[in-house]
Parts: sequence; C-alpha cells; structure tokens
Amino acid sequence: MYNLLKGKKGIIFGALNVDSIAWKVAQRAYAEGAQIVLTNAPVAMRLGEINKLAEECNAPVIPADATKNEDLENLFLKAIEHFGGKVDFVLHSIGMSINIRKNRSYAESVHEDFIKGMDISALSLHRTLAAAWKLDALSSGSSVLSLSYIAAQRTFPGYGDMADNKSYLESITRSFGYYYGKKNGTRVNSISQSPTKTSAGSGIAGFNAFYNYAQKMSPLGNATADECADYCITMFSDLTKKVTMQNLFHDGGFSYTGVSEEVMEMFMDKE
Ligand code: NAI
Repeated sequence: MYNLLKGKKGIIFGALNVDSIAWKVAQRAYAEGAQIVLTNAPVAMRLGEINKLAEECNAPVIPADATKNEDLENLFLKAIEHFGGKVDFVLHSIGMSINIRKNRSYAESVHEDFIKGMDISALSLHRTLAAAWKLDALSSGSSVLSLSYIAAQRTFPGYGDMADNKSYLESITRSFGYYYGKKNGTRVNSISQSPTKTSAGSGIAGFNAFYNYAQKMSPLGNATADECADYCITMFSDLTKKVTMQNLFHDGGFSYTGVSEEVMEMFMDKE
C-alpha cells in the first residue's frame, strides 16, 4: 500500500455484493488511508451484504436512491457531518436498464422504462453532482468518477439502451467536468471498464461472449474489478490533478485493437 488517499474522505455508491466493482474500490480506498461513506439504493441494501463491507471499512452506510434529489442532498449533508468537512472523492458505480431486465430488444424498448433506466444509469450522475454543487459539498481539487462501457462508442448487440445511457453518462461527465473545474478545481472523469463478472454484468444477454471475445482481443487481457479499483485510487489521488472531462479506457487495450492474432486464427481458411 502507498497511503495514496491518506486524509481523504470519499463517498462510494454501488457496492451490492463482493463482486461489485464499488466493493473493491471501497476496500482499496480504505487500505490506502481514506475515510469512506458507503451508499446504495434502499432496496439494494435489504440484501444486507453491504453491512459486512461497512464493518470491514469502518464506514457508515447512508441509503440514497440516486434518482431522488432529496436522498442525495441528505447523503451529502450526513457525509459532511460524519467527516467533519467536505468530500474529496466520489465513485458513481450505478447502472440498470429495465428494458434489459425485461429481456426486450433495443428496437422494442419501452419508452417509460427507457427514461427510468436513463435516470438511474446516467442522470443520477447529474443529480449527484448537482446536489453536491448546491451544498458546496466537494473540496477544492476533489475527484469524481463514474463507470462506463465501450458500448457508448461502438455497438454491442444485447447491450440495448444501456449503450445510450453510457453515452449520456460520458457527456454529463464532460459537461459537469467543465463547470466543476471552473468552480473549485474538481475533476470529473469516467472509466470505461472491460466486461467484468458482476451482478450488473451478468444481466446482459450474451455477457460470457462479450467477456471471452474481449479477453481474446485485448493484448493485456480483460481488466479485473480489482485492477479497476487500483485505477480508481490513482484517479482519486493527488497524482492525477489535471486529468478531467475524460473517458478513460481501462480495458487491456481492447478499444484500440483492430483484431488480435487469436481472433484471426478463428477465421483462417483451412487449406
Ligand atoms: P453491480 O450490480 O454490483 O452494481 C450496480 C449498482 O447500482 C448496484 O449496487 C445497485 O444497487 C446500484 N443501483 C441500481 N439502482 C440504483 C439507484 N436507483 N440508486 C442507487 N444505486 C442504484 O455491478 P457492477 O458491474 O459493479 O456495476 C457498477 C458500474 O460499472 C455500473 O455503472 C456498470 O454499468 C459499470 N460497468 C460494468 C461492467 C461489467 O461488465 N460489469 C463493464 C463496464 C462498466
């Protein structure tokens, strides 16, 4: 450990179970010397798993539905009270598509559910940053991260309306990154992560194929949740103070690989 987050205080959204990317980030942030507050939607917290993490990281759990402004404002107020000061980093690790959950194809997405999924997966980042803005809850030079997927740039069958949600999420990252940078030097970035075996990941039809394909395509192989947590820690640390408004690929090289030898081999004509 490097004590990279010594003295820093952060809020981590989205730790559902031990597989969650946010779970690993919380463990890693704590190990690097940060004080943290955990949060998730009240409905997700009924599973109770988060309490184990809370104990391990000596962190309070403050429920907040990320689609409710009053919940988010309450979260920031309570976190500031707990920390005795402003928040230095935030991880937004939230995603859900109702159309995907209901196995609807992209073309058959139901509008109301499209909007709900967009609110949960993308607009919740705006809501979170807007609540923090209103309460002046983020410290000068603080760092905010969300998690994205390359379906925001390129089409992956089965990823449905989540592709649009991720594009929107990345756009909010840029827009708020501008305003928050001007306001108090806060950085806002998204990390575009490899397919990762989690509860949200396995909800995607054909997830195994995405995972195996990306594994064969990426020169470094797929990035794991633990490796994603490592990257998040560097982005929360003072070592990345001038990185903002970016979508940062953390995918073992997948996004810039045209084709790999392993994949070419599968298409060779047999003499
Ligand atoms: P996960 O299922 O463990 O995490 C998703 C979280 O969103 C859960 O904790 C869930 O309770 C929370 N959530 C859902 N609705 C909410 C609401 N209304 N308010 C507050 N929280 C809510 O799965 P994972 O994979 O750790 O997902 C975290 C992020 O990483 C998501 O944004 C996901 O899209 C992204 N991601 C995941 C990849 C994967 O293959 N698993 C790849 C690239 C990005």
